[in-house]
Amino acid sequence: MLTTIAKFADHVGKEATIQGWMFNKRGSGKIYFLQLRDGSGITQGIVEASSVHPKVMETAEKLTAESSVKVTGIVSKHPKLADTYELQVNGLEIVHLCADEYPIAKKDHGIEFLMDNRHLWLRSHRQWAIQRIRNTIINATYEYLNSEGFIKIDAPILTPNACEGTTDLFGVDYFELGKAYLSQSGQLYLEAAIFSVGRCFDFGPVFRAEKSKTRRHLTEFWMMDAEAAFVEHDENIKIQEGLVAFMVKSVLEKNLQELKILERDIEPLKKIVPPFIRKTHAEVVRELKGMGSDIEAMHDLGGDDETLLTKKYDKPIFVDKYPAEVKAFYMKRDPQDPTRALCADLLAPEGYGEIIGGGQREDDYEVLLARIREHDLPREPFEWYLDLRRYGTVPHSGFGIGIERTVAWLCGIHHIREAIPFPRMIYRVSP
Ligand code: 4AD
Ligand code: MG
Repeated sequence: MLTTIAKFADHVGKEATIQGWMFNKRGSGKIYFLQLRDGSGITQGIVEASSVHPKVMETAEKLTAESSVKVTGIVSKHPKLADTYELQVNGLEIVHLCADEYPIAKKDHGIEFLMDNRHLWLRSHRQWAIQRIRNTIINATYEYLNSEGFIKIDAPILTPNACEGTTDLFGVDYFELGKAYLSQSGQLYLEAAIFSVGRCFDFGPVFRAEKSKTRRHLTEFWMMDAEAAFVEHDENIKIQEGLVAFMVKSVLEKNLQELKILERDIEPLKKIVPPFIRKTHAEVVRELKGMGSDIEAMHDLGGDDETLLTKKYDKPIFVDKYPAEVKAFYMKRDPQDPTRALCADLLAPEGYGEIIGGGQREDDYEVLLARIREHDLPREPFEWYLDLRRYGTVPHSGFGIGIERTVAWLCGIHHIREAIPFPRMIYRVSP
């Protein structure tokens, strides 16, 4: 019966056929151990001369790494490893025999070589595991937000204006209309949609032309923005905490095999349960200075500051109330201290740093207009955004979570370039 490796538990003692690839082979003459994968999982196929037709043995002999195959055999439990199955092969059919040697060998390759061969590197166990965890995180986002009453609203990617500031936009020629820009975040459009649907979220690629060459920056990445009417700063934080805890729980439930492949220590992940830590930006600055950082009182946290701070704690940290001047024009000011914004970034522990940026939005027409002017933004492209404050304005808040940074953290990988199938960075747009 045609099945997949993931379903082997249901086929023990029975004949099964799988379709996939052979990535490695050991043995010779009398017995071959074929390392097989089919997308759903990894297994070992055992071909023994004493029990198969000589033709099957011949086929096993000529199989080369990464050739595609159809393999039939009896599924058996691994003699030692729990939840592991093997295939006692009795039929082997080659779909495509690789004549050329597969470029990615077992030996250590440099990162540039692997990135140039990303289209092939994706086949490795490690990349397979990362993509499956990414999938769990994406599904968990939909599941959690739907259960909290958010519906998905797709924000446009081609936009007339900047959302997060004008310095890091990718422009494209847009017919007779001049320039359009690749979106930095769907937030402003979600703010429009909440007046229709109350609570919504988007999930899509966003673009940043900033010249940051760090392990945390891509020029194209995937963000989930959420926005809700009548939600103020504290409730916004509760929603984020619930979402992140649910993502971690889902990965621990569904991806233990993948976490093992990645050699991810799962003990720290088990601690990611609400309540998270919450500290004001002012407190964090004092703490960082005590740890040797040269951060200034009204400055943003640098990447090194985030690393330093988050290595100290085993829970995510909300850094609350940043100086308004380091944040975007749409942030509502803290009524207790107007130099501060009613916003928070969520920093992931173990040195990972910022995964979410969010806050309450300025909902007053006059104040928002003044901010647009202070930030030297042109008024005309923001007229529609100002309209939202003209017709039935309400207090509202939202946040955006960077998927690759979240994947990197949960997978325990150092650089986010491995957290996306085909990374785009300042020095790479291919393959
Ligand atoms: O903090 P950011 O810039 O916030 C916004 O764009 C808001 N409009 C979101 C909102 O309130 N709806 O970006 C949000 C998150 C960051 O916390 C980070 O996880 C990720 O997006 N991010 C990046 N990820 C990879 N590469 C980059 N260059 C990133 N810039 C931001
Ligand atoms: Mg941010």
